[in-house]
Amino acid sequence: EKGGYEHFMLKEMYEQPKAITDTFSPRLKDGKIVIEELGMSDEDILAIKKIMIVACGSAYHTGMTSKYVFEGLARIPVEVDLASEFRYRDPIIEEGTLLIVVSQSGETADTLAALREAKAKGARVLGIVNVVGSSIAREADNVMYTWAGPEIAVATTKAYSAQLIALYLLAMKFAHVRGKLDDENLASMIEELKEIPTQVEMLLNNKNKIQKFANRYLAARDIFFIGRGVDYAISLEGSLKLKEISYIHSEAYAAGELKHGTISLIEEGTLVAAVLTQEDLYKKMISNMVEVKTRGAFVMAVTNVDNTEVERAADYVVYIPKTNKYFTNSLAIIPLQLFGYYVSVGKGCDVDKPRNLAKSVTVE
Ligand code: F6R
Repeated sequence: EKGGYEHFMLKEMYEQPKAITDTFSPRLKDGKIVIEELGMSDEDILAIKKIMIVACGSAYHTGMTSKYVFEGLARIPVEVDLASEFRYRDPIIEEGTLLIVVSQSGETADTLAALREAKAKGARVLGIVNVVGSSIAREADNVMYTWAGPEIAVATTKAYSAQLIALYLLAMKFAHVRGKLDDENLASMIEELKEIPTQVEMLLNNKNKIQKFANRYLAARDIFFIGRGVDYAISLEGSLKLKEISYIHSEAYAAGELKHGTISLIEEGTLVAAVLTQEDLYKKMISNMVEVKTRGAFVMAVTNVDNTEVERAADYVVYIPKTNKYFTNSLAIIPLQLFGYYVSVGKGCDVDKPRNLAKSVTVE
């Protein structure tokens, strides 16, 4: 059933191009984004004053990424919350709030409770869900499915990638309806979106190089991930992937926060993975990388293919192909998933079923 792959996680990583394509294709019609299941007219979309995104774990990270996309593209303010926090803090939900819950399983107890809390307070709730007919899918006002297919490995990969795509589509749709994205720019973003599956495949085919690199870190005690903007969101996801399956302590930091504490943890040889895909932030990131390198860190960078400056501050570089600046997480996550996977494999961990974790968290 693993189709020749050693683990479900590897198989599911390789299913990402398909999960991505299956999530965007049914929603692209004649050069426009059509999301019928949204159940929202253009007037409804114009009336949105605020978006709240609520989820757990990796799904929460896709919410964080999309905050930058919704705000940057559609200029709609976004709040992102962990479901376990949201549900207990008597959240303020004003008129014009669209609440989005994101969940692979559709059964996560805290996310479901957050949905119920928001509905009781009068919010319109949109679910972005992978499992058809799950509790969250049934209880949300509207459901936009991610078409990633069944995910078996506890560590999510393809569902995460499909969630990102669903959120990009929504942000692009909202931006277009609200007059922030013209026809021409929408069309060119759609073209860039369609390139993602092939680009993901290219990055997956780099796996042997990443495995060789990962094997150097099997005995690491701590590994850090840093980024800014969408790259901060992906740092959180890269760090979670690594720690949950390899049991190596790892933290992700907004790069600008290093100086406020974390930098004291950097020692000779500590691995710091820096993600820098936002051109306007290259300089800031490079100076953060130099700061940790000066203190002995070994710096791995994940950056765009045209970033020629990076080698000055990095010891090891993975380049990702050119895409829209809002889509880079979909590419940059691939080497980070592979890295976590191969550290786990190298250490002989139970990759698909890490200790103490369950695929679906139906109790809080
Ligand atoms: C991490 C992971 C978890 C889930 C989280 C939410 O790899 O899989 O962090 O993302 O438990 O689960 P769902 O999406 O089913 O609500």
